[in-house]
Amino acid sequence: MSKDISNCKNLEHNMITIIGSGKVGSSMALQIAMKELDTQVLLLDIVEGLPQGEAMDISHLLSERGIDTHVKGSNEYADMAGSDIVVIVAGVGRKPGMTRMDLLNTNTSIVKDVAKKIAENAKDATIITVTNPLDPMTYVTLKITKFKPNKVIGMGNMLDVSRFKSFIAHDTRMSRSAIDALVIGEHGENMLPLIRYSSISGIPLVNFLDNENAKQVVENTKKVAAEVIALKGATIYAPANAVTHMVDAIVKDRKEVIPVAAYLDGEYGTKDVCIGVPAVLGKDGIEQIIELELNTEEKEWFDKGVKNVKDSIAKISF
Ligand code: LAC
Repeated sequence: MSKDISNCKNLEHNMITIIGSGKVGSSMALQIAMKELDTQVLLLDIVEGLPQGEAMDISHLLSERGIDTHVKGSNEYADMAGSDIVVIVAGVGRKPGMTRMDLLNTNTSIVKDVAKKIAENAKDATIITVTNPLDPMTYVTLKITKFKPNKVIGMGNMLDVSRFKSFIAHDTRMSRSAIDALVIGEHGENMLPLIRYSSISGIPLVNFLDNENAKQVVENTKKVAAEVIALKGATIYAPANAVTHMVDAIVKDRKEVIPVAAYLDGEYGTKDVCIGVPAVLGKDGIEQIIELELNTEEKEWFDKGVKNVKDSIAKISF
């Protein structure tokens, strides 16, 4: 009888571990598996049976589709050993009427615990933090794991970009495939959708939206997550897609420019904070941080986000 190696990392494959097997985590596992990135996927959760059931359900779909990505579920943190990428989704989602920052106290203790387990079991992994409030939780992940800053990445602005693109497509009636859009700053009340750095087929967006319309698109981008949560209780597919896009860029070493929460050490005139900036993602995680020229209004808004994130970090004991 051959030894069951299903829980061991197959050396020739990348291993993606997702910690938190709720709706977002399981949707991530499905979307990553469907991209056939030559990876194996491990779903982890503290709830007995949940990750195993999700993995089985996903595997049945993959089997019918003829996709050989191996998806496993486990309640053992030790099973993440050898992971190339670990995604932190564990934590409480916000309820209708809450801001992401309202989750600070609850999720800080959860992310601290998970980060410790990653440092113990997957010391060579690149981490993508998703748990809100995203920017402070990315900072907590970095400080607790003591990993190099390029290996700790926050997923927030990539999700904001998906909403920004949605509103741009709606208001301009142009194909979604032609839209290039950028959001930086806090993944929260002070996010900064950048009209000046967005375009349609390379043509600056200002040629398609007047000032009033552009302001409305920016406001809608900031508010829409709360609207989705009020309607269906959580955001699921779009966050899962944003993480999948980032995993693809890392696994395939794409050197793709993606806005992510990164640790700043002087960039954008600030230090010792994690917040959304354009970065080059590749096999080494954050391979370069790109500093944009911001005008006065944009810089003020970016700095408001930095202050909000720093104030929240100041409330955390390490
Ligand atoms: C959102 C959550 C994931 O924006 O912050 O949907």
